[in-house]
Amino acid sequence: MAKVAIIGAGPCGLSMLRSFEQAEKKGEKIPEIVCFDKQDDWGGLWNYSWRTGSDQYGDPVPNSMYRYLWSNGPKECLEFADYSFDEHFGKPIPSFPPREVLYDYILGRVKKGNLKDKIKFNTTVTNITYNNDSFELIYKDKKSDTILKDTFDYVVVSTGHFSVPFIPEYPGMKSFPGRIMHSHDFRDAEEFRDKNVVVLGSSYSAEDVALQCHKYGAKSVTIGYRHNPMGFKWPDGMKEVFHLDRLEGSKAIFKDGHIQETDAVILCTGYLHHFPFLSEELKLKTGNRLYPPMLYKGVVWQNNHKLMYLGMQDQFHTFNMFDCQAWFARDVIMGKIKTPDSSEIEKDINKWVSLEEKLEDADQMIDFQTEYTKELHALSDYPKIDFELIRKTFKEWEHHKVENIMTYRNKSFASPVTGSVGPKHHTDWEVAMDDSLKTFLNQPEK
Ligand SMILES: Cc1cc2nc3c(=O)[nH]c(=O)nc-3n(C[C@H](O)[C@H](O)[C@H](O)COP(=O)(O)OP(=O)(O)OC[C@H]3O[C@@H](n4cnc5c(N)ncnc54)[C@H](O)[C@@H]3O)c2cc1C
Ligand SMILES: NC(=O)c1ccc[n+]([C@@H]2O[C@H](COP(=O)([O-])OP(=O)(O)OC[C@H]3O[C@@H](n4cnc5c(N)ncnc54)[C@H](OP(=O)(O)O)[C@@H]3O)[C@@H](O)[C@H]2O)c1
Repeated sequence: MAKVAIIGAGPCGLSMLRSFEQAEKKGEKIPEIVCFDKQDDWGGLWNYSWRTGSDQYGDPVPNSMYRYLWSNGPKECLEFADYSFDEHFGKPIPSFPPREVLYDYILGRVKKGNLKDKIKFNTTVTNITYNNDSFELIYKDKKSDTILKDTFDYVVVSTGHFSVPFIPEYPGMKSFPGRIMHSHDFRDAEEFRDKNVVVLGSSYSAEDVALQCHKYGAKSVTIGYRHNPMGFKWPDGMKEVFHLDRLEGSKAIFKDGHIQETDAVILCTGYLHHFPFLSEELKLKTGNRLYPPMLYKGVVWQNNHKLMYLGMQDQFHTFNMFDCQAWFARDVIMGKIKTPDSSEIEKDINKWVSLEEKLEDADQMIDFQTEYTKELHALSDYPKIDFELIRKTFKEWEHHKVENIMTYRNKSFASPVTGSVGPKHHTDWEVAMDDSLKTFLNQPEK
């Protein structure tokens, strides 16, 4: 019987476990599976941690999520085809849930079986090499401080790529008297109440960390973009200026001449794909893009078809795309899908990579990732889900953000699985300070 290692028990690793569970339920003989996670529980980034830096064993904390984080996209776009929000919560819920609610949903699906027994927690995979048709995997049991070894036929890398921060340096940082941090270590916007904050970046973290600081009472928020501004209509107290040039004392000096007195600089400058545990010839090297090269169907390592990567793309689609990838990977592992010869694989990868390179705006990017996910979906028995509705929802969401960045999270959308429409949340996001599951679900009766 084949033996499969899954590295990481975040949403991607859990999709992988779920895919095998579903095959087993249909009476198929599944391989032996061992899943490893360096955290003490499952859920990946959604398993919020107050910790930053290292954990109690000296291992870097993978978590990048923060208190008061709400979904930045409609929940309907990430819904599992085989486990709807209606099924989990017993009723329709609003379209933009906070972290704790999504965490509950992700775990609801996997808690029902015995999948947790397959995961070794507090266990960091430290080295993987491929020799004689199998992978040798070395891992550390952090609690007992022991190094162990095992051999596998297949490896699935589902370690995420938003855990190792990319940290640039600007002149004046060494002598800046305030706080400098990366969004990876951002935990609570309350820290910046009444402060002048500079946020660097122009993507989702910059947008959301800046909005959080504003929402929780920062005196001013100045966002410094490097290439293209986000260009939203920011509320009073927020502005977007061109690229930081340097810090001089407590002043941030931007390349457009703008000068801002500042108490803190938050670097929302993205993350590195970082796989220190993989030998060089197995290691994916890429920036955060919609189609990383060397991955057939975005999943199978071009030079070794027994190695799979899940969720390594930049993400519009998330949980149901991870599922489509996992179902595909499962069928490759179980021999139900045969990978084509190397020239076909190269052609397929090149097709997607060159299409990606031509994308110009968010709508085209949404189309691209929807087409990719639909293609994968057609290759396995992952249950039916309305990707055309998801495509439409993503585009409406993008347009809502352009209309008003403060109110887009108050909108409602229809489920691509059940068709039910999320009710309007009882409190507008801008004034909803309590993000607990209990408060969120406590919708007043009509
Ligand atoms: C701040 C932030 C907010 C986000 N918000 C949203 C959102 O609102 N909606 C959305 O859909 N997506 C959001 N995302 C995207 C996020 O990437 C996905 O939702 C999802 O968490 C990705 O799952 P994953 O399993 O690939 O990675 P992760 O969730 O990162 O899980 C990877 C797991 O691998 C483990 N691991 C890593 N290295 C090792 C090792 N060597 N050995 C053992 N275990 C290891 C980690 O401990 C972790 O548990 C957000 C991301 C960030 C950073
Ligand atoms: N639920 C939520 O609300 C929420 C909140 C935060 C994050 N997220 C998720 O987290 C993931 C990661 O998002 P991210 O924004 O951290 O990473 P990202 O999308 O990879 O963006 C990185 C940003 O850093 C900028 N940058 C890099 N180097 C820089 C420099 N030296 N100076 C200034 N800017 C620099 C880039 O700008 P250039 O374009 O100029 O290169 C880019 O805007 C996404 O999946 C997102 O959805 C979700």
